[in-house]
Amino acid sequence: MNPRIIIAPSLLAADFSRLGEEARAVEAAGADWLHLDVMDGHFVPNITFGPLVVKALRPHTTLPLDVHLMIAPVDPFLDAFAEAGADHISIHAEAGPHLHRSLQRIRALGKKPGVVLNPATSVDSVLWVLDLVDIVMVMTVNPGFGGQAFIEGQVPKVAALRRAMDATGRHIHLQIDGGVTSDTAPRLIAAGANALVAGTAVFGKPDYAAAIQAIRAAAPAR
Ligand code: DX5
Ligand code: ZN
Repeated sequence: MNPRIIIAPSLLAADFSRLGEEARAVEAAGADWLHLDVMDGHFVPNITFGPLVVKALRPHTTLPLDVHLMIAPVDPFLDAFAEAGADHISIHAEAGPHLHRSLQRIRALGKKPGVVLNPATSVDSVLWVLDLVDIVMVMTVNPGFGGQAFIEGQVPKVAALRRAMDATGRHIHLQIDGGVTSDTAPRLIAAGANALVAGTAVFGKPDYAAAIQAIRAAAPAR
């Protein structure tokens, strides 16, 4: 049991006809952040929702809204997501021509910036923005869909990022997205992750509190 592990249920796996209710339910079940997956049908092969839905959800929860933007170009939409009530805005390393500038913009908007690495994205691509971010997120599936198989080969990358992040002396969350379950969580925590997104492993279960607890309980204390 590791109470310090942040669990961020992904609303992508929730019942989309009852999003407000689902957000309230996972907050009551012990979630730490609410993960919101924004997809544009261009950067990823799926479409979800935009700032209007983020804004509509805002009154339904006091949890930090952990907004994962899978859109490119991302710059034209940063202000809209900030105004909609996002607390964290995470963008992919490939989401625009000037990652550094985009992250600076998120900070200037008063939000916590995050940078996301696709499975094929190397650790090197984020080393020179670590001073700008509060979150580094590793995709352990290819982005676009929930319920995909965990990519085991990403675990060493998590460990490499942990070392690079520790070397900065700054507190930066190391978050994982994709295929997180009580089975995969222990290896991710051992590699240095401290925040876990879980879609189907929470919303796909009948008892959200038990599902969140099962992931926490699987994580070794550090
Ligand atoms: C995928 C999304 C994930 C997704 C994870 O592109 O970024 O947040 O909801 O789903 P699971 O936990 O089912 O792999
Ligand atoms: Zn996500």
